[in-house]
Amino acid sequence: MALVLVTGSNRGVGLEMARQFAARGDHVIACARAGGPAGEGLEPVRLDVTDASDLSALTGQLEGRALDLLVCNAGVLKGRGGVEDPSMDEAAFAETFAVNVTGVFMTVRACLPALRRAKGKIAVISSQMGSTERAKGSAYIYRASKAAATNLAVCLSKELQEDGIAVGAYHPGWVRTDMGGSGADISAEESAAGLLVRFDELNLSTTGAFRFYSGEAIPF
Ligand SMILES: NC(=O)c1ccc[n+]([C@@H]2O[C@H](COP(=O)([O-])OP(=O)(O)OC[C@H]3O[C@@H](n4cnc5c(N)ncnc54)[C@H](OP(=O)(O)O)[C@@H]3O)[C@@H](O)[C@H]2O)c1
Repeated sequence: MALVLVTGSNRGVGLEMARQFAARGDHVIACARAGGPAGEGLEPVRLDVTDASDLSALTGQLEGRALDLLVCNAGVLKGRGGVEDPSMDEAAFAETFAVNVTGVFMTVRACLPALRRAKGKIAVISSQMGSTERAKGSAYIYRASKAAATNLAVCLSKELQEDGIAVGAYHPGWVRTDMGGSGADISAEESAAGLLVRFDELNLSTTGAFRFYSGEAIPF
């Protein structure tokens, strides 16, 4: 049984990952802004990844515990249009970067003592929309934030290798969630099932990888 922490675990891909971890017998610290889901194997914890006091409380809650896997899943998408899309304003930039980039980094920092105790792993749920090689002229804020999230994962993989902590970045697929919409390719169940396999295979020899939920490597 592993100890796993998932951010943004109240809906979408995060909820389904939490459920699947719990169903296979792992103990899940299920984090969400309004308190995560409860149930067998699920330990609900309030965590807004942009809130310094929530993050410091989380470090306290992890005191003395060994965390096997941190999944940084919480994310937002603001504005899907082109450069003149009015929804992509300064506030949308600030919120998106606070959650998708700073939120990832600060969650990693808050969990680091517990990750070190287990020589655990970190999975950053990024997006292929952040791949520069697959760039498109839309959803600029989200694409830039996910490029940064992938970059954080790769840079963290370099520093944390000496602690025995492997770090990967993952694209969950185009998933039918509030973010992905009802016309997306795959269900949250299918995405989460693939992602759990990817997390299981992550180790120090594959650290720094950026992969699809189904395993293919994604260019940066
Ligand atoms: N769906 C796709 O097709 C797709 C594709 C590529 C990548 N992704 C990525 O996959 C991850 C999950 O996406 P999803 O489709 O499941 O999205 P979703 O259904 O919109 O869920 C987003 C989750 O993030 C949480 N969240 C947002 N801001 C937060 C904050 N400040 N602190 C803590 N939690 C916060 C939300 O909590 P609240 O309920 O409190 O808002 C919710 O649990 C995201 O990182 C997303 O960028 C999704």
